[in-house]
Amino acid sequence: MSIAEKFVSMEYGPAPEDSKDAVAWLGRHGHRLQHFIGGAWQAPAAGEYFDTVDPSNGEKLASVAQGSAADVDAAVKAAQAASIGWRSLTPHARARYLYAIARLVQKHSRVLAVLETMDNGKPIRESRDIDIPLVARHFYHHAGWAQLLDQEFPEYVPCGVIGQIIPWNFPLLMLAWKIAPALATGNSVVLKPAEFTPLTALVFAEICQEAGLPAGVVNIVTGDGRTGEALVKHPDVNKIAFTGSTEVGRSIRAATATSDKKLSLELGGKSPFIVFEDADLDSTVEGLVDGIWLNQGQVCCAGSRLLMQESIAEALISKIQDRMSTLRIGAPLDKAIDIGAIVAQVQLDRIRKLVDQGVADGATCWQPQVALPARGFYYPPTLLSNVHPTSIVAQQEIFGPVLAAMTFRTPAEAVELANNTVYGLAACVWSESINVALHVAAQLKAGVVWVNSTNLFDASCGFGGYRESGYGREGGREGLLEYMEPAWFKSAPALPAEVSGVRSQVSGKPESPNNLGDELDGSDNMPSLPTIDHTVKLYIGGKQARPDSGYSLEVRAADGRLLGEAPLGNRKDIRNAVEAAHKATAWTKATAHNRAQVLYYCAENLSQRHDEIAHRLSAIVGEKQAAAEVDLSIQRIFSYAAWADKFDGAVHNPPFRNVAIAMNEAVGTIGIICPHEAPLLGFLSVVMPALAVGNTVIAVPSEAYPLIAGDLYQVFDTSDLPGGALNIVTGYASQLLKTLAEHDDVDAIWCFGDAASAAGAKAMSVGNLKQVFTNEGRAIDWFNPKLAEGRWFLEHATQVKNIWVPYGE
Ligand code: NAI
Repeated sequence: MSIAEKFVSMEYGPAPEDSKDAVAWLGRHGHRLQHFIGGAWQAPAAGEYFDTVDPSNGEKLASVAQGSAADVDAAVKAAQAASIGWRSLTPHARARYLYAIARLVQKHSRVLAVLETMDNGKPIRESRDIDIPLVARHFYHHAGWAQLLDQEFPEYVPCGVIGQIIPWNFPLLMLAWKIAPALATGNSVVLKPAEFTPLTALVFAEICQEAGLPAGVVNIVTGDGRTGEALVKHPDVNKIAFTGSTEVGRSIRAATATSDKKLSLELGGKSPFIVFEDADLDSTVEGLVDGIWLNQGQVCCAGSRLLMQESIAEALISKIQDRMSTLRIGAPLDKAIDIGAIVAQVQLDRIRKLVDQGVADGATCWQPQVALPARGFYYPPTLLSNVHPTSIVAQQEIFGPVLAAMTFRTPAEAVELANNTVYGLAACVWSESINVALHVAAQLKAGVVWVNSTNLFDASCGFGGYRESGYGREGGREGLLEYMEPAWFKSAPALPAEVSGVRSQVSGKPESPNNLGDELDGSDNMPSLPTIDHTVKLYIGGKQARPDSGYSLEVRAADGRLLGEAPLGNRKDIRNAVEAAHKATAWTKATAHNRAQVLYYCAENLSQRHDEIAHRLSAIVGEKQAAAEVDLSIQRIFSYAAWADKFDGAVHNPPFRNVAIAMNEAVGTIGIICPHEAPLLGFLSVVMPALAVGNTVIAVPSEAYPLIAGDLYQVFDTSDLPGGALNIVTGYASQLLKTLAEHDDVDAIWCFGDAASAAGAKAMSVGNLKQVFTNEGRAIDWFNPKLAEGRWFLEHATQVKNIWVPYGE
């Protein structure tokens, strides 16, 4: 072709990136890679290896060690041995190591980018310009956090040894997201890369050596899911951080339920890409190219559901098809390629199957006329239109270059469609009206919302999901907290046996109709006459309600006296309470100032009934504790009234022309099993932070003294707390916990009981992957405000949503 002809056709010639250095690196290791344990290469104990292949041509790149339980154990021991030395370094010393790693990532960026592309199949343009620069940025940013740690988090300590399991879609970037914050906060790590893409993690191991990182601080064990499982189950791992499929995330939640391992999960997504009729359609199409065709669509936050306002749907589809026809698909090492190879044959088969199912469900499939390379795992960019919102391709993560398009008419309908998924990782909103965009962004159930932009990431901004997209954040301040614990909590003793034993004082008997609603006062000083003091009801939707079972519990004082009866709540009562909580929009939509006012009012009303409540409470906890509980309860409510309009977010400054607004949002509806040991103060210490930030609550009061509920209804009723904001169901905590934990419309479970209750809360909540907050069976001194109130509780009551807003032309 002559230059003149080329000028007319504007065809790209081949522009392959040189792979010589990457191949030489593999050669130096004899194309056989071992584990990196205790600062040295270590052959797998069982002598087993597996192949990692180049997905662009199916050729073997190297054999890689298959990690066994013995290898994992060796790595955990190395991490444990290194842990004390590493956490005892000064923050500045740790900062220097992280800074050295950042610089070395930059120095080796070319070989890292090339090897990433060879192992994963992603275009070199992406690994070179997106993945590796973000890796370096992550280490620089966290070198800064290491330096500032003592000043910014003086009350926190590292978790210890962290087990990290990462996927294959952004291999080195996911490593950086996990290792940088873990190291900055003084932890040591054992990381398992995905079996399809282990290579850059092993180059990173060499970078750790080159940086002089103390041996054992970073250990890399390669292998498949079995290796991951061994890491999850290892008793000396203090926290698991996982990114991958929701299915494996669920199994990890179940496997860690009986331990006190911390857990963060970054799982799948089916993120909406919402386009309003006033959007700049040309920019939207470019955004969409990034949104769904970046990394062949193998991106957890890919904008895989296109929701278009009906009036522009036709025009937009036509523009998208034109643009799809210009996407270049081929050898990923070619610098002019837009779409590379799918990571493995099994993923390619999965994509094909899902698209076939979508078409069978009635979708129209459109693909540009492109020739796919003869070898390797390729799938063309694909547009599915006329997709029904319930079709498998609108609901399930395809993890491939496939866009499912739907239409809507109004912003309200867009929000409804967008939220019609079990996931909640990310969303894009395209509109030239900032009012519309932010109004919609605030209503989306997603951890990240990009306004007129897509797939922007930065170390300073938290990333992570709502709902079945997981919990915990990576990046930013909230990401650091995932790797630390309050120092007092880490060393808190287990709850003493007698506290759990309190439950034995409660026994069930059919509710006597004559007792319903009775309130007989002044009899508790007559031990010889066990007259019923008072009988309470459930509190649901702002009204007192009889229990469905018709049974009640006898509540007795420490000396055996009958104090009263509390209803025996059951599944039906919990379901009614959840329904009432969902209707309590007067609370969820109230301003922070309004919430504060209501809580202050609660404190005022409690203080007016101080003596009477303390008197009743004294029958169960003694006079001294009762008086202290009521005094401190008033203070605790005051604290959370104060926090209600102060626990706000941040505005980040990522290094682009953007602001990222980090908003603390309520988690939703929280089921709370309240502590036994301080019936009033414990109840308020856990319920108030949840309410303060706008959650609705279903609380199960202490079994030791559920009668406290009766006093509380009156306090809340007279304090303008909207009906349904707080619902109280008395009964057997273990039974009610199960119903709450298994309920799909409950978003989080808080459980403050013994170790068995904490394990139960975690195990039973795997269904919709609720956020779980427990005391891990440890004692919390509810009387010490430094431990029992404040940010730690509020952080669990909220989740951060980052809304990215670009500025400039
Ligand atoms: P996966 O969840 O099986 O793999 C992710 C990581 O978990 C890998 O390192 C794997 O070895 C490890 N793993 C697998 N089973 C484990 C277990 N029982 N215990 C501990 N670790 C275990 O994901 P896979 O099979 O590679 O991909 C399947 C689908 O998952 C994809 O099509 C996609 O829909 C989704 N996925 C989502 C990702 C995300 O970033 N959200 C990343 C990778 C996959």
